[in-house]
Amino acid sequence: MDRESLKLQNSNKHLFYRHLRESDPEIYSCIVQELNRLRDNLELIASENVVSLAVLEAASSVLTNKYAEGYPSARWYGGCKYADEVERIAIKRAKDLFHAEYANVQPHSGTQANLAVYFSVLKPGETILALDIASGGHLSHGHPKNFSGAVYNVVRYGVEKDSQLIDYNQVQELARKHRPKIIVAGHSAYPRILDFDKFKEIAGEVGAYVMADIAHVAGLVIAGLHPNPCQKNIEFVTTTTHKTLRGARGGMILAQERFSKILDSALFPGSQGGPLLHIIAAKAVAFKEAGEPEFKKYQEQVLKNSRTIAQAFISKGYRVMTGGTDNHLNLVDVYSTYKVSGKDSSKWLEEANITVNKNLIPYDTLSPFITSGIRIGSPAVTTRGMKEKEMLVIVELIDKVLKNKGDAEIIARVKDDVRNLLKNFPLYPEISDEQ
Ligand SMILES: Cc1ncc(COP(=O)(O)O)c(C=O)c1O
Repeated sequence: MDRESLKLQNSNKHLFYRHLRESDPEIYSCIVQELNRLRDNLELIASENVVSLAVLEAASSVLTNKYAEGYPSARWYGGCKYADEVERIAIKRAKDLFHAEYANVQPHSGTQANLAVYFSVLKPGETILALDIASGGHLSHGHPKNFSGAVYNVVRYGVEKDSQLIDYNQVQELARKHRPKIIVAGHSAYPRILDFDKFKEIAGEVGAYVMADIAHVAGLVIAGLHPNPCQKNIEFVTTTTHKTLRGARGGMILAQERFSKILDSALFPGSQGGPLLHIIAAKAVAFKEAGEPEFKKYQEQVLKNSRTIAQAFISKGYRVMTGGTDNHLNLVDVYSTYKVSGKDSSKWLEEANITVNKNLIPYDTLSPFITSGIRIGSPAVTTRGMKEKEMLVIVELIDKVLKNKGDAEIIARVKDDVRNLLKNFPLYPEISDEQ
């Protein structure tokens, strides 16, 4: 590289933080330290990923200045010409990606998307049938401390004790008995494919709608590696945009066109105010990326890596829930292997620069604050370029820490190994590290 290009590259490296560094050193320092944390850690949280620089730029763009309550061509404020354009592009890309009739890209988060769907068709006190959190469900699927559990009557289905697979017979029995208005098909910690046909059949029998929450598997859905609920005649589909989909943090609703009016109004003015246009722009950028052939290859690698992780843990004698995985995540019972809790495991691993989260396993005997399991996801390390070979190393390192129950010397050695491994997989090399 000649001197001029090098100079240009180095000046570009400060593009993101130059002004912040001067005007707010405190926040600047936090951001830089977070960047370094991301660089130096193996990120195995199943719900996290690493967005492109293009997504980052859109997320930090001037669109943050714009109020645009309402929808394209029907705003409460003037000056929305470009806001309209951005949102229209995002909607079109979302519909194309998922083959959906309707898309609403305004939800600030996955929880907001779920709230809006419930609010669009349920009256307070009406019934939702959803996966129990202890079996892998999400807070917004009816946890008592969440609005969904506080406002609606929630009935929970679970997984079978032996197979840890969703018990569709139980779903059917509960649906017949409680006649829910919505059946939620979705999870935060379930390593297998969801049978949308089965959910639809059960719902049809009792006159319920299905809401498929594909927050975790949206990227796999786009790549054709998980069934697409939008093509299964399912009424409501919600998702986050920042997990396997690898976009800006946020949510989205996809649905059949006949629900467009009630969904639009359930979101705004029903449950949100002005949209975050900068985030909608960043979602649109991610949708464009997700339409590229590269994205399919990336998702294939996510799946291969996840399966490699499962097999590596199994061959070391761990109990891996459901005996393997069909998606980007694994749920590993650490307690039955080494009598260590998920809480201790995640703490020790964090000390060794390996980030996972503690997780309940089905029929867990430990509390949600302690847990018998850890959840391990492959999306972020796959974005950094890692393949099967590195997954084997990662499992080896995790096993070392757990087998030695957090021994400080072992943790220090594993931390060195992690640093060495990460050297070959740089994160945001375009952003300078000379701070
Ligand atoms: C299945 C599912 N739905 C909804 C959400 C909520 O997303 P958010 O954190 O953006 O509200 C999550 C987040 O983990 C999730 O796993």
